[in-house]
Amino acid sequence: MSAVLAARDHVFSPRRQDFVIRPVPGAAGGLGAEVVGLDLSRPLSRDDFERLQSAHWEHHVLVFRDQRITPSEQVAFSRLWGPLQIHVLRQFQLPGHPEILQVSNLRDEQGQPLGLGDAGQLWHSDLSYKEKPSLGSLLHAQELPEEGGDTLFADQHAAYEALPGTLKQRLAGLQAEHSYLLHYEALRSKSPWRPALTQAQIAEVRPAVHPVVHTHPGNGRKALFVSEHFTSRILGLSEGESRTLLQQLFAHSVQPQFVYRHQWQPHDMVFWDNRAVLHLAAGTPSHLRRKLYRTTVEGARPVA
Ligand code: OGA
Ligand code: MN
Repeated sequence: MSAVLAARDHVFSPRRQDFVIRPVPGAAGGLGAEVVGLDLSRPLSRDDFERLQSAHWEHHVLVFRDQRITPSEQVAFSRLWGPLQIHVLRQFQLPGHPEILQVSNLRDEQGQPLGLGDAGQLWHSDLSYKEKPSLGSLLHAQELPEEGGDTLFADQHAAYEALPGTLKQRLAGLQAEHSYLLHYEALRSKSPWRPALTQAQIAEVRPAVHPVVHTHPGNGRKALFVSEHFTSRILGLSEGESRTLLQQLFAHSVQPQFVYRHQWQPHDMVFWDNRAVLHLAAGTPSHLRRKLYRTTVEGARPVA
């Protein structure tokens, strides 16, 4: 409902498009659906928007095949779902399009990185360190490597539901801190891509506290909402207890039975639900080129 409200200023087309939504090949337990035959450069009808929204709530990862769209068209489609979030690493914006973060290992003529080359090396949910984390992210393939470069998604509804009842009870009411800075320096020391953060950037990414288990505002299902990349501690537990419990949850939440591995095809645009899945970049051999454009939609404050 909230996304329909966010889109209320949009002028929907009266005309529906002819497209199918079906499970992606290799989907695990309903995670991942592909959308075939829809052209996102054309105006969307309200019915089609609502079809996509239902599929997003059900399958959590939508793969729009063969989208020949411009950055402006990606931004326009992304805005239908809510306000867009501007990433703290401003230096990696696509020039002229502050809403687009370049996820890329390419460099400019001076040898400066053009984009975030090591995005997603640890499991995470985008911007979970914000008071209002992301509803979802849209990643549009521009240049793909011949091998590698896959993105993995782990279903956090399924992960929650598979927990033993005693652990579910223990997690009820617990809150965790999420911090952008938790692994930043460690990643930076391993990677030529990451810039040193300015004081202004550090001030922008203050930690946030969210429930360990939250309820998805669209589908009403509970999901685990912690990740190795950003979750620093569970409030109200000793340091050691917090670490042990988080390690247990991190290991549980990304087991193969919860994971869909996306192998990118040219012109794919993938729209995942950051409230329902964690994701991870499988990695690209460093001599191969990879470039994708990301837009990030703001969500609501998570509630238990
Ligand atoms: C991202 C991200 C993973 C990838 O863009 O948010 O985590 O495979 N990307 O590029
Ligand atoms: Mn990410």
